[in-house]
Amino acid sequence: MTNMRSDIRFLLGNEERRIENIDPQTTVLNYLRLDEHKCGTKEGCAEGDCGACTVVLGEVDETVPGAMRYRTVNACIQFVPTLDGKQLLTVEHLKSADGSLHPVQQAMVDTHGSQCGFCTPGFVMSLYKIWLDGGEDDRGAINDALAGNLCRCTGYGPIIEAARASGGAGINDVVEQSRRKDVADRLKGLVGEGGGLEITHPRGRYFAPRSSDKLAQILVTHPDAIILAGGTDVGLWVTKHLKRLDPIVYIGDVADLKSVEVRDGDVHIGAGATYSDAHGALGDIAADLGELVRRIGSRQIRNAGTLGGNIANGSPIGDTPPALIALGARLVLRMGDVRREIPLEDFFITYGKQDRAKGEFVEKIIVPKPAGSSQFRAWKISKRFDQDITAVLGAFAITLENGAVSDIRIAFGGMAGTPMRAKKCEAAIIGQPWTDETLNTARLALADDFKPMTDMRASGEYRMLVAQNLLTKLYIETTQPGVATRLVGKAVSHG
Ligand SMILES: Cc1cc2nc3c(=O)[nH]c(=O)nc-3n(C[C@H](O)[C@H](O)[C@H](O)COP(=O)(O)OP(=O)(O)OC[C@H]3O[C@@H](n4cnc5c(N)ncnc54)[C@H](O)[C@@H]3O)c2cc1C
Ligand code: FES
Ligand code: FES
Repeated sequence: MTNMRSDIRFLLGNEERRIENIDPQTTVLNYLRLDEHKCGTKEGCAEGDCGACTVVLGEVDETVPGAMRYRTVNACIQFVPTLDGKQLLTVEHLKSADGSLHPVQQAMVDTHGSQCGFCTPGFVMSLYKIWLDGGEDDRGAINDALAGNLCRCTGYGPIIEAARASGGAGINDVVEQSRRKDVADRLKGLVGEGGGLEITHPRGRYFAPRSSDKLAQILVTHPDAIILAGGTDVGLWVTKHLKRLDPIVYIGDVADLKSVEVRDGDVHIGAGATYSDAHGALGDIAADLGELVRRIGSRQIRNAGTLGGNIANGSPIGDTPPALIALGARLVLRMGDVRREIPLEDFFITYGKQDRAKGEFVEKIIVPKPAGSSQFRAWKISKRFDQDITAVLGAFAITLENGAVSDIRIAFGGMAGTPMRAKKCEAAIIGQPWTDETLNTARLALADDFKPMTDMRASGEYRMLVAQNLLTKLYIETTQPGVATRLVGKAVSHG
């Protein structure tokens, strides 16, 4: 296609790389270890769970002239062509010319933050990202930044201490700003104004357009292409299921799909916006929505994964769809030049089947601002609080007037083959006084809405009981606000 390049251009530390003839589904981790012989970055799980492969990606911050933005990602599930136009920083790049340790490495030594050391480079890179942002002292924020790094021998206390002891880059310092501007200028010069990437390799093709018009055109020409967003699902198809994907169409470089905008109070989220990008705006819609997003995977996963991917994958246990359905979110789908807007709940037809034609893609998600009197609650129930898959997720948008329920939307994940509304339960509540009696009727009605399955995560009986108890929790929180119903969970940390 016109105007598209075939070489992948990026900075590895401060060194320029222009790579041609690489299998497009080569992971960044394998490239680093096998091609660059930079073996500081480790492989633990190869599925985004352990953080041993954590690297930092730097990108030009288009909102502030001359600025860079940095994020941690799991190198094991990112493909090399997604590095185009970015700076890749690994633990090797922390080494000073005089051989002295970087402040975060020195802090790890001083606090005895490493034993076997396998997890250490990954932790160091997560700490380095904190350092790049100017340092952090708050325990909650440090926990959040490190929740995607697992350590099985040292224990987290010394590592958290190291985070505090590291200090931070002087982000307002003139020298640091000019260093970042220099990197931003080099990255801009490297990729120029071209139309993105088109790679043809014997093992597969890869397209990375830079506009949604071009994306639409490519998908019409290649309707069977695999759409790649953050790769937090797709990456595992390669590392765990050993699939060959051809062609891949990457949407992470499409500038107009990455926007998060508030219009008349509604939030419009481009399908390419990451969870981290959308977190602040979603937390402003409802505190529980922000907290739900904060608990998705880890910081590394949220820095790559998208809301669009969480919807498009059609999973019955994706965390955002039930919450967005309860809030009445709408989906914009596009094929070629034709767009259609549908209620999100209509997208999920049945297990494994969504209302998306070949060649069509999710362009954006519109989350309406809840009416002033509406209250929103969402709870994710999983075996572990952080980094775990949902057993049941209940989301509720309720409006009370004079002690009665004038409106309620209830949606669950983990209770059926798709994220789904509890319409019989809603009907048992709407128009009724919000009392113990209505609650009990509604609890029973849930059994008419769902026949949940038993799997390794939970039994059907457990799921039903949890769903009913979440309804009771909603009742208590909306009628007796003084009662303590949560150990944690209403704070919204944007990051
Ligand atoms: C360690 C780990 C922890 C996780 N934790 C959670 C969790 O707590 N909660 C949770 O819900 N999920 C979790 N996930 C799953 C995953 O992160 C999410 O489903 C994520 O939202 C997928 O988005 P993505 O951008 O990475 O999608 P990708 O992996 O790039 O794509 C996912 C699917 O969506 C399709 N797709 C992507 N974008 C579009 C589009 N715009 N139009 C049409 N199709 C599209 C792809 O073709 C693919 O089929 C976790 C995953 C990992 C690896
Ligand atoms: S190797 Fe475990 S997250 Fe990448
Ligand atoms: S030091 Fe051994 S896993 Fe962390």
